[in-house]
Amino acid sequence: GRQLQLREVEGILLQAATVDNWSEIQNFEAKPDDLLICTYPKSGTTWIQEIVDMIEQNGDVEKCQRAIIQHRHPFIEWAQPSQTSGVEKANIMPSPRILRTHLPTQLLPPSFWENNCKFLYVARNAKDCMVSYYHFQRMNQMLPDPGTWEEYFETFINGKVAWGSWYDHVKGWWEIKDRYQILFLFYEDIKRDPKHEIQKVMQFMGKNLGETVLDKIVQETSFEKMKENPMTNRSTVPKSILDQSISPFMRKGTVGDWKNHFTVAQNERFDEIYRQKMEGTSINFCMEL
Ligand code: A3P
Repeated sequence: GRQLQLREVEGILLQAATVDNWSEIQNFEAKPDDLLICTYPKSGTTWIQEIVDMIEQNGDVEKCQRAIIQHRHPFIEWAQPSQTSGVEKANIMPSPRILRTHLPTQLLPPSFWENNCKFLYVARNAKDCMVSYYHFQRMNQMLPDPGTWEEYFETFINGKVAWGSWYDHVKGWWEIKDRYQILFLFYEDIKRDPKHEIQKVMQFMGKNLGETVLDKIVQETSFEKMKENPMTNRSTVPKSILDQSISPFMRKGTVGDWKNHFTVAQNERFDEIYRQKMEGTSINFCMEL
């Protein structure tokens, strides 16, 4: 098995190298024209990144591929010994910058709030998110082995996974969404009506693209296209990090795959815990299309 340790910052588990680098991360200097893509892991980060890039490059696939090679949205909390950190990458990047994080609101470097940056948050329903995270931990050698599905079920609902509890993450971002420049999107909405959601992102980014370009972005950011695209399917990442023979990075890309994993008893237990943990919030998820 993998001998991997997650470590806590303010009760939130993070990768050890991130915690080692914590003061650099907290002191990160955001700029007023930064756009930060925020997600809980496995909520459609790669998908929204591709949508944002395609919008930025006016639907030009080749420019988009080149942009990915040059700077794929530095991941603020990324740190690995002897590698360029996410903060270092962001620091040398020309503005306007598009950055990425999985951090919950309370752990975000304060300069993002101070500079009133734009935040693009994508949320995915907890059940599909759990399923996706389980398979991701099976194949991602940089995260702990998830154990059996039954074991992982407990780990996830107790928030004992990297980047902490799904419930707290989603609630945290949802509660502040009207106080900052936050575009709050749902994975399930993008799946159901990609053009409509892509249009929202476009407006949020201050861009104005025509129908033809929008239709092209819809096509190019479909699951099928992104699964084939070596720039988005992570096929360039070595097997020692992402072992896609265990589970592909572009796994299923659907809403409702949880039905293939949850037993009836697990589902009832999950719903009960969900009600408790999400009590008092107005956020509403769609669990099937
Ligand atoms: P599944 O494991 O359910 O297939 P992240 O990028 O945040 O790690 O999220 C990964 C999840 O988003 C995976 O979910 C992946 O298949 C899905 N995904 C990636 N691109 C997608 C797309 N274009 N359309 C739908 N789902 C997509």
